[in-house]
Amino acid sequence: MEKIRVYGGQRVDGRVQISGAKNAALPLLAAAILSEDGLTLKNIPPLSDISTMMLLLETLGVECSRSDVDDYSMTVDCETNSLSNFTAPYEIVKKMRASILVLGPLLTRYGHCSVSLPGGCAIGVRPIDLHLKGLEAMGAQIDLKDGYVYAEAKSGLHGAEFEFPVSTVTGTENLLMAAVLANGDTVLRNAAREPEIVDLANCLNKMGARIEGQGTSEIRIVGVSGLHHTEYSVLVDRIEAGTYAIAAAITKGQVDLIGGDFRKLLPTFIEKMEECSLIFEDIPNGLRAKYAGEIRPIDFQTAPFPNFPTDLQAQTMALLCLSSGRSLIDEKIWENRFMHVAELSRMGAKISISGSRATVEGVDHLVGAPVMATDLRASFSLVLAGLAAQGDTVVDRVYHLNRGYCCAEKKLADCGVRVDRIK
Ligand code: EPU
Repeated sequence: MEKIRVYGGQRVDGRVQISGAKNAALPLLAAAILSEDGLTLKNIPPLSDISTMMLLLETLGVECSRSDVDDYSMTVDCETNSLSNFTAPYEIVKKMRASILVLGPLLTRYGHCSVSLPGGCAIGVRPIDLHLKGLEAMGAQIDLKDGYVYAEAKSGLHGAEFEFPVSTVTGTENLLMAAVLANGDTVLRNAAREPEIVDLANCLNKMGARIEGQGTSEIRIVGVSGLHHTEYSVLVDRIEAGTYAIAAAITKGQVDLIGGDFRKLLPTFIEKMEECSLIFEDIPNGLRAKYAGEIRPIDFQTAPFPNFPTDLQAQTMALLCLSSGRSLIDEKIWENRFMHVAELSRMGAKISISGSRATVEGVDHLVGAPVMATDLRASFSLVLAGLAAQGDTVVDRVYHLNRGYCCAEKKLADCGVRVDRIK
């Protein structure tokens, strides 16, 4: 299994081109199913999760061709005139839960489909009950059998009013994609407001959909009879940007994050980092993050956008391990997203957990150790801790990192930092 060796005591100083967002690209690729004549997506990050989604689309009969623009970005052309298969098989869905995003598009366009149930994962149970309830409200008949969701809407879906009891990102995306081709009007209340949802809605509108209110908690959709080819460039990855900002803080360095309006995309994170350890300066097409001279303890809780993103919790925790006091973290989204705590503890961190809360007591230094990545974001938190530690750290199970961080060692090298892959 591939590992990464991280040499301790390095300082980040440089410029990082931030890639397109994995969590925007995945629903956009699924949206290709809705088009009568294909979809061209630019700024797609070359990641293993993207390859998994392309494999799933190809299994359904979408022809995907990719052309690499550079190391950090590719263009994907999807040909979608007619599909040949309407089943998302377990073998693919088990690799990536976001595969559930084909459910809404397949059902609304073709009136039937089956999708393997995704099951849980390292960070939580990850139910999809709200995706299914929303589709039922739009007239779908749903059966759960043999580990699969069988969905049918013989005469098509109809518009509906649906209120999400909790905010769900992929749930909102699935219902949004289902509603664009439904008969009549749909209103989604307590919809998720993440920028990736706005990106999806903007692309769908370019394809001919009629969506309003994206980015607010009430999205209104007027169903249309068909969607068409467009070319769309994927939103920049705010989580990757936040991760490299933390790399600057934990190594007492500086980084220019290039490619987007990160103040708008990470409002609460930036506020908290200013309180903790970073100074931000606007630069052309990006933001500079500079170490402010100390790492102060902070308290934060993760919550849906625009609040502190759960996908930056593990990386921030690594930083707080080296703060000058006690920090409190409340993980409000995922019930089991503290798997990295045991690994950080092996490096000398002092963290205790009680339910959804972690208390991090800052220590003077961390020490390099062999550690194991437990999920995507946890994997980079260990790389960050390793960069600041005394001695070398070897991070095992790097396949987690490959799912969501494009060319990590190259981008770190762009910041003057060396890590090596060990095959
Ligand atoms: N939930 C339900 N029922 C549902 C759906 C969700 O109870 O039907 C609950 C979940 O159990 C969770 C909460 O709602 O407690 C939020 O889950 P959400 O559905 O928003 O998560 P997701 O859509 O499965 C996306 C990202 C995750 C990110 C979360 C939260 C994608 C492909 N994934 O997941 O990204 O953590 O939103 O922001 O967009 C990552 O990139 O590392 C990652 C895990």
